[in-house]
Amino acid sequence: SETKPLAGQKALVSAGPTYEAIDPVRFIGNHSSGKMGYAIAAKLKELGATVTLISGPTALDAPKGVNRISVTSAAEMFENCQKHFSDSQICVMAAAVADYTVEEVAPFKIKKKDSSLTIPLKKTPDILATLGAVKTVQILVGFALETDHEEANATEKLKKKNLDFIVLNSLNDAGAGFQNNTNKITIIDKTLEKTVFPLKSKDEVATDICEKIVSIFADK
Ligand code: PMT
Repeated sequence: SETKPLAGQKALVSAGPTYEAIDPVRFIGNHSSGKMGYAIAAKLKELGATVTLISGPTALDAPKGVNRISVTSAAEMFENCQKHFSDSQICVMAAAVADYTVEEVAPFKIKKKDSSLTIPLKKTPDILATLGAVKTVQILVGFALETDHEEANATEKLKKKNLDFIVLNSLNDAGAGFQNNTNKITIIDKTLEKTVFPLKSKDEVATDICEKIVSIFADK
C-alpha cells in the first residue's frame, strides 16, 4: 500500500476559544467554534500523522483517531501545548486564545450594584510566540484573525512568532472566520511569498493548509 505523506510524524493542533473565568458563573470568551482547527486535525490524521488536538470548549466531536485534550483557559492551553511541542514535527495553532485574563477570579458570584464595574485584567502568555522562540525541527503554523491592516498585521505576527507560515483570515470577508463552515484565507510564508485562496469549505481550506505543510516537509 502507498505510504501516506505524513506517516510517522506527530502533529499538535490547537482549536476553539478559551474561557477566562470572572467568577463562578461568568467568563471572558470569544466566538470560535473550533471548526477550523478540528478540520485541520482531521486532515493531518488522514495524511498519516499522529495528531494531538488541544481544544478549548466546543460543541464538536473529536475527529476519528485524533487524541483530543480538552482545556478551558489560556493557561491550560499553554501548559498542554508546551507539554506536547518538543515531541512534535508539525504544529498548527488555530485556537482563538484570550490575550487577557482576570487578575483575580472572584470566589463568589459578583453582585449587581448601582455603580459601574471594573475588572482588572492581566496578559496571558502568547502560546505561539513561546513555541516559536524554542522551535527546532518543527514546522510551525499560526493564524492571524484581522479586522484591519490585514496583511501588515499578519506579516508582523509571522516574523515576531518565528513561523514557517501564517494563515490570514479577515472578518471583512463574507463567510470567513468564526462559526461559518467556510473560510477565505491568504497564506504568507517565511519567504514572504503570498498565496490568496478563494472562499472554500473549512475542510477544503484545511486541505490547502496541509498541502503547504506537506510541501515544506518534502523540502526538509
Ligand atoms: O473556530 P472557528 O469558529 O472555525 O473559527 C476559526 C478562527 C477564526 C478562530 C481561526 O481561523 C483563527 O483565525 N484562529 C486564530 C484566532 C486568533 O486568535 O488570532 P490572533 O491573530 O489573535 O492570534 C495569532 C496567532 O497566535 C494564532 O495562531 C493564535 O492561536 C496564537 N495565539 C494568540 C494569543 C495567545 N495568547 N496565544 C496564541 O497562541
